[in-house]
Formats: sequence, C-alpha cells, structure tokens
Amino acid sequence: MKKACADVETIRTMKALVFHGPNKLALEERPKPEIMSPTDAVVRITATTICGTDLHILKGDVPTIADGRILGHEGVGIIEAVGADVENFHPGDKVLISLISSCGRCSFCRKEMYSHCSNGGWLLGNTVDGTQAEYVRIPYADTGLYLLPPDADDEAMVMLSCALPTGFECGALSGQVQPGDTVAIVGAGPVGLAALLTVQLYSPAAVVMIDLDDNRLKVATSLGATHVVNSWEGKTVEWVMALTHNSGVDVAIEAVGLPATFDLCQAIIAPGGHIANVGVHGTSVELHLEKLWAANVTLTTRLVDAGTTPMLLGMVLSGRLDAKKLVSHRFELSEILKAYEIFGNAAKEHAIKVIIRNSCVKEGPI
Ligand SMILES: NC(=O)c1ccc[n+]([C@@H]2O[C@H](COP(=O)([O-])OP(=O)(O)OC[C@H]3O[C@@H](n4cnc5c(N)ncnc54)[C@H](O)[C@@H]3O)[C@@H](O)[C@H]2O)c1
Ligand SMILES: [Zn+2]
Ligand SMILES: [Zn+2]
Repeated sequence: MKKACADVETIRTMKALVFHGPNKLALEERPKPEIMSPTDAVVRITATTICGTDLHILKGDVPTIADGRILGHEGVGIIEAVGADVENFHPGDKVLISLISSCGRCSFCRKEMYSHCSNGGWLLGNTVDGTQAEYVRIPYADTGLYLLPPDADDEAMVMLSCALPTGFECGALSGQVQPGDTVAIVGAGPVGLAALLTVQLYSPAAVVMIDLDDNRLKVATSLGATHVVNSWEGKTVEWVMALTHNSGVDVAIEAVGLPATFDLCQAIIAPGGHIANVGVHGTSVELHLEKLWAANVTLTTRLVDAGTTPMLLGMVLSGRLDAKKLVSHRFELSEILKAYEIFGNAAKEHAIKVIIRNSCVKEGPI
C-alpha cells in the first residue's frame, strides 16, 4: 500500500537525505520547505537521482556543502505552491527541475553563463537544500523549471536535470566536436555516456570510451561507442596512439574528476585538439605544459549552465535522444541509502543511473 505524502495540513515534516560531512549521510525527518521569496516554487518530488558529483561531495571534494544540507540537484515533480512573482507555473503543473537557478538579469545571466549567476548558479544540493527529499524549494522558479507534458516519462526526464546538459555542454560543445573527429571520453558514468550520446549529433568518425568498468563499457558500445578500452591494465595511451596512427585524438573529454584521468587526456590529445574537462576535481592536477606548450591545444573547464535544456528536452520528448537507456536501478525514497551504496559500487552492481521515486499518494487540497 502506498503511503500518504507529507503534505496534509497537520504534517509539517518530510523525509530528506541529509549530508553530515564526508561519508556521513542520513535519511531524516526535516521541515517541509515553504515559499521564502516571491520568485520561489515548492515542488513535490516524484523522481530524483544521484549524480557523480554527489559521490564527490561524499568524499569531501566539494567544500561549499555544509553539514545539514539536503543533497540532490536533479528531479521531476509536481508544483505544490508558487510565490507571488512566479508567472509561468501553477500548482499541479508537472515540471523538470534544472540543477541551475538563474535570476536572468545579472551580468553573467546576460552572457548566458547561468551557472555563474550572481544571485543563483548551482544552488540545489549545494548551498540550498536539494531534491533528494519529498519536497524542494526552487529559487527563481520561472527560469529553473520546465513545464512537462503530464504523460512525460519521469525516468527519462530526470536525465535532463544534470547528466544530459552536462555531457552536452561541458563535453560535446566545449570540446568543439567536428564531423570526422576522433573523440575519446574518459569515464563512462552517466555524464560520460551523456557526452557519448550528444557528441554523435556532430558525426565524429570514432568515439573511444575509456573506463575501468566493463559493464559501463558494454553499455557504451550499445549507445554508439566505436571503441572501448578498460584502462585497468595501464596501456591506454599506447592503445589510443596506435588507433590514431600516433597522432592522438581530436577531442578528449574528461568525465571522471581524478588526476590520473586528466593526465590521460593530456597524453592522448592530438596537436590542435581540445581537452574538455567535465569532472569535479577535489585535488590539483599536473598541467604538462612542457609537452603541450607547442601543441596548439585548447583546454576548457565548465560548470554546466543548462542553457541547452530546452533543446535537449525537445530531443528526448521526440525520441531523438533515448535518455532512459541510462537508467539501471529503481528505488523508493525510503531506500535512498541503499541507492547510494549501489551507485557508489557501480562496477560491482552493474549500475548506471539510479532512479529514486517518491511514490506517496497526494491527499488533501493542493
Ligand atoms: N562540470 C559540471 O558541471 C559537472 C556536472 C555534473 C557532473 N560532473 C562531474 O562529472 C563526472 C562524471 O559524473 P558521473 O555522474 O558520470 O559520475 P560516476 O561516478 O558515475 O562516473 C565516473 C566514472 O569514472 C570511472 N573511473 C573512475 N576512475 C577511473 C580511472 N582511473 N580511469 C577511467 N575511468 C575511471 C568510473 O568507473 C565511473 O564509471 C564527475 O566528476 C561529476 O562530479 C560535472
Ligand atoms: Zn549532477
Ligand atoms: Zn543571474
């Protein structure tokens, strides 16, 4: 039997996944969020998920996350309440939550660098309580939410909160993939696989996926990778150089966030190539300028702006991008600690993206 949502008049608390420092998570009872600013909305989450960034947070790689923060920056849900200045959404609307909150007015927003919005940016599950809960408060709801058709598939839609725009913007777009290019993607997690799906929009000649996880590499092949390499044996550089007749790859996308994987990208990049860093790094890496200074290489870093979400949403809704193929496991919110364990042991558990559903039944007035 399904349980009732924590939204009846008398119930003022909800279940939420709370961060208490490196490797300390707890599913706790927390106050239900309320509208704090006229541009806010409160959304009842129906589906959320876990990002590789949440694993970096758990490791202590992201110092902005305070003890007591509710994690999660991805989700789909139903609007519960809107502030007086919210124009585009109404209670009862089904919405996609973007990980980026943007005021739309500051100098960074005017430059379409929404992730650096002076009043917003990546807030959810970072400096503001996030989506791994029954309810979430969304700042700047008019720009941070997207209206979904009532019958849109929650599982496919939730890939649009972070994984797809990140793989596309920080990987394919920053890497400036051109028709005929050879592309290497280091890291076949959901973000690396999202980069794989979206670099193919530019007709590369070859896409090489590199990971330590044979299951994820198998999934990469099914999603269009022309070559896969398990880098466990340590011969990856030689292998890629042989594949490219010693010239290296035109684009190397780093989708892990470790010094070793950043090093690998530097070692396999061709003259004139683009290294697109996507991974969240918790420690410094060595920049091999003694080798790269004359190589005409471009190195990009980027926090996803999510400005391409409307375009990607159209592609997923039309079936042009099959985002649901990234989903491997499903849990209820009450099982979220288990979901973290499975996602954190992805190779052993054959996990890609884990869906966490909040399938409580709405009771009482909206
Ligand atoms: N820049 C941004 O805005 C942004 C946004 C979202 C996520 N990210 C980052 O993107 C990265 C990928 O996210 P994800 O959700 O796919 O994470 P994930 O943890 O699911 O995937 C990481 C993958 O890297 C592989 N890996 C680990 N060590 C490796 C090694 N030495 N060699 C090769 N592969 C190795 C793992 O097996 C795994 O498949 C993370 O660092 C995440 O924090 C960045
Ligand atoms: Zn993310
Ligand atoms: Zn702004």
